[in-house]
Amino acid sequence: MSSSPAELSIVIPTFNESGNLRELVERIRQALPAVAWEIVFVDDNSPDGTAQVARQLYEAEPRVRCIRRVGRRGLSSACIEGMLSTSAPYVAVMDADLQHDPKVLARMLEVLRQDAADLVVGSRYTEGGSVGDWDSGRLKISRFATRLADLVMKVKVSDPMSGFFMMRRRVIEECAGGLSALGFKILLDIIATTPAATRVKEVPFEFGLRHAGESKLSANVAWEYVLLLGDKLIGRWVPVRFLAFAAIGAFGVFVHFAVLTSLFRGLGVAFSIAQGTAALVAMAFNYTVNNVLTYAGQSLRGWRWWKGLLSFMLVCGVGALGNVGVATYLFGQDTSWALSALVGIIVGAVWNYAVSARYTWKNT
Ligand code: GDD
Ligand code: MN
Repeated sequence: MSSSPAELSIVIPTFNESGNLRELVERIRQALPAVAWEIVFVDDNSPDGTAQVARQLYEAEPRVRCIRRVGRRGLSSACIEGMLSTSAPYVAVMDADLQHDPKVLARMLEVLRQDAADLVVGSRYTEGGSVGDWDSGRLKISRFATRLADLVMKVKVSDPMSGFFMMRRRVIEECAGGLSALGFKILLDIIATTPAATRVKEVPFEFGLRHAGESKLSANVAWEYVLLLGDKLIGRWVPVRFLAFAAIGAFGVFVHFAVLTSLFRGLGVAFSIAQGTAALVAMAFNYTVNNVLTYAGQSLRGWRWWKGLLSFMLVCGVGALGNVGVATYLFGQDTSWALSALVGIIVGAVWNYAVSARYTWKNT
């Protein structure tokens, strides 16, 4: 059996793509007959058994590897892990569903081998490229999103949303520490992180039809894109997730007062009980909204949702003690009551954010 090192590593993120793998590997084999390639599937423990299919394919084609991630979700982070798992000099990323024609890989590789670029992007928007059969609605949204991307791109590219690209491994190795790893747009993440000196070339391709299965693009994708842009713009100073968390927390104060007012003033419930109930409702509200927005793409579901709620309440309970402790201490040191309260709130919020990120959403 050959053990020659791979020149090109093709990283393919998968979630429920079991019906596409066999055909894809076959087409890659045909498209790159003279290239020493390897395939790295990065599967987020798909319920349809995609990883098992990859393991089966390995028996006939040992150049097929698979990283199976358990308890994780995310297209960008899957691509990053796949790219960092290889030692091949060139690394490509493509979809598993055959919307990206493997024949284009040969052209991309040629550009890199000739040292005409460090990163080659499969573009739907340059001359000769096409988005296939998209309706005008999706086309408009995609173009608008592309224009927003101009805010963060260091190197100009006509199709920074493409999920089809190839680069020298050095490019990803060098910028890995600065990536946001949020959402779907891994190429934009790379382009906004890599030094401006990185040479980029575009190769046109036609976005094909999905072979089997369905798209994982959901309503969340737009919001995750906003998080990515936010992180690229201000993440250096404040984590964008902290901003979302703080904004939702501020909203939670309104929820608290709404519940408190209706119970205490409206129904005549004892103040301490009304206040306690309001705090619990506000915490549950914060948890629910953070789970959907702040942690879009890795939201807890099923029994994990309940476990998360419990841990969030514990975290916030300790946060509240810290808040009151710090504020009381400051107030005792002759600090004004408003400033004492504000510092207490900030300490509590930072604690709640940092500890819930670690323990509730297991985000490190
Ligand atoms: N490991 C992993 N984890 N893979 C995922 C996940 C995930 O959470 N979500 C999606 N994938 C895989 C899919 O299985 C597929 O192989 C690939 O990522 C792209 O997902 P699709 O569901 O096929 O997305 P799409 O075709 O709608 O979007 C594609 O085109 C966009 C351009 O319009 C992707 O290439 C996007 O990255 C691209 O922006
Ligand atoms: Mn697709």
